[in-house]
Amino acid sequence: MFSVAIDGPSGAGKSSVSKAVAKAAGFVHVDTGALYRALAFTSIKNSVDISNADAVNEMLTNTKLSLKLDADGQKVLINGEDVTGQLRTEQVSMAASNISKIPAVRAFLLDTQRKTAEEMNVIMDGRDIATVVLPNADVKVFLTASPEKRAERRYKELLAKNEEVEYNKILEDVIKRDRQDMEREIAPLRPSEDSVIVDTSEMSFDESVEAITRLIKERM
Ligand code: DC
Repeated sequence: MFSVAIDGPSGAGKSSVSKAVAKAAGFVHVDTGALYRALAFTSIKNSVDISNADAVNEMLTNTKLSLKLDADGQKVLINGEDVTGQLRTEQVSMAASNISKIPAVRAFLLDTQRKTAEEMNVIMDGRDIATVVLPNADVKVFLTASPEKRAERRYKELLAKNEEVEYNKILEDVIKRDRQDMEREIAPLRPSEDSVIVDTSEMSFDESVEAITRLIKERM
């Protein structure tokens, strides 16, 4: 199997770029952030106190998470219920960043991610794909952009959905989440030694897709 690891901070365009690259290359796109988001969503829904290790363990014991990958894209099911549509709120974003610091949560999701890459050609995006999940990935990219650019993109995305948003608040959240993801003890966000760093601050969407497609072609 051929695997491509795309890591980077929130809002760098990992998901949308990975999706387009996957389509062009005939690979399956796996958005691992959605797995953390699904557990975060479950903890909110069931009022689980995530600072309490026992409560988190109990939640994990009672949670069956599965990933459905087909032509329509990725769906995440929790105990059989499709929660995909409920994962992209600011509340779930911050909760996902918080819950992803917990070792038991990371261990819980590791198997699903590795098994998927064993079964199909994947472009997997996340924070620790090259460093932890798929250290032998064929292509490793660290996709990044300045915090201001990332906040601006998120701002426009939310405006387009008619959500009431403030640019400064989004920038603040971006910086806070970066810090949290980079400073955590296990699997912190960082490029692996052999990752190619692609900074999309001054690149269009198409240019970002082309840059990664080129890297894949070189390795194939
Ligand atoms: O990519 P995203 O914004 O959907 O990810 C949400 C949170 O999940 C992110 O703040 C950190 C965590 N995450 C992680 O720790 N490891 C991954 N491979 C993917 C996401």
